[in-house]
Amino acid sequence: MMLRSFSRQSLLLQFAALIGALLVLGTIALVTMRNSLGEAQALEHARVTASMVEALGNWSSQYRGVWVLSEPTETSFQVGDFLEHRQARPSAISSGADKASVPVSGTVAITQTGGTFHHKDPSHVQRELSAVVEKMGGVERFRVTSDRVFDLRNTPNRFELTAIEQLRSADPANAEYHEVSGDRLVYAKRLVATASCLACHDTPERSPEAIRNKFTGSQGWGFKEGGFAGIVSVSVPIRGSGAGALFQQMNLAASLAVTATLLTFGALLYWLRANVIHAAQVLKDYAQRILEAKAGEKVTRVDLDIDEHSSRNEMHRLSVAIKALYRALLLAQADRV
Ligand code: HEC
Repeated sequence: MMLRSFSRQSLLLQFAALIGALLVLGTIALVTMRNSLGEAQALEHARVTASMVEALGNWSSQYRGVWVLSEPTETSFQVGDFLEHRQARPSAISSGADKASVPVSGTVAITQTGGTFHHKDPSHVQRELSAVVEKMGGVERFRVTSDRVFDLRNTPNRFELTAIEQLRSADPANAEYHEVSGDRLVYAKRLVATASCLACHDTPERSPEAIRNKFTGSQGWGFKEGGFAGIVSVSVPIRGSGAGALFQQMNLAASLAVTATLLTFGALLYWLRANVIHAAQVLKDYAQRILEAKAGEKVTRVDLDIDEHSSRNEMHRLSVAIKALYRALLLAQADRV
């Protein structure tokens, strides 16, 4: 019924409605494709970021964290967060033993300068990297977290808790999880406890005194080699999500392609009007005049082309057919007279 009432509308209206639907669906398809492409790119971005963060953790873990030295002369030195510190005092007497402790020829013994060593554990190093990336205007955010933490600042959020639940017993070869959160992709990668992590995360008794004292009563211990050691949690923007972004990001070539497509649709509408609808109207008026003509009155012939007979255009052939009918009608009238 709907189809019939549609097919009874003017051809121009039917054609415009179909072209309109094509344009709308085409745009939706483009936006959806762009979104899924943006998501795939964001996932790759998050994977690379997570691997780098994990690698940085492994690197600093192999040294049981890193020690940062601030010398007394460096007044503007900002050491940031650290686990413990050790003071090195300059010794007044330069004894033989001190001389023997100079590690490499040409370097100055710490006993000459004095200074403070600050111990940063791997998680500090990763947090500081995140701050540096943010300062540089980087778009990726990341950290390590677990459901059993040393430091309450690392307490997992809703997404991270879900990821931890999914990844705790996941196959290490496929140990990632992600969600789309607004215009960002949040991603988690499972961390595996290596022997170097156990130096601090095994049992309180087997970890450095500074950690034991600082995190008494916390749950950050209990790693088993090869077992679950938390997650790297990464958040990256999904570029180009939404129809607005699609048009904003168009370069000159893309804008030209869209304009050309719209012009082609316009040309299609014009073609339909000129070659089908206008021709149909002319022929309808011609047939009308034939019907209304009084006996003996000659109706001026209508030609859509100078040589309609050899044309393959259906409208031209219809015109030929109407003229043939008209001739037959005239002959019939002449016979009757
Ligand atoms: C030198 C000791 C040390 C080593 C080695 C170490 N960690 Fe940690 N880790 C810590 C401390 C201390 C914290 C909490 C400090 C903070 O984040 O401010 C922490 C935090 C974490 C956290 C965040 C949750 C929490 O407990 O607060 C994860 C996950 C983690 N470590 C995983 C690892 C992994 C995996 C390794 C091995 C690749 C490793 N750690 C090696 C000391 C260590």
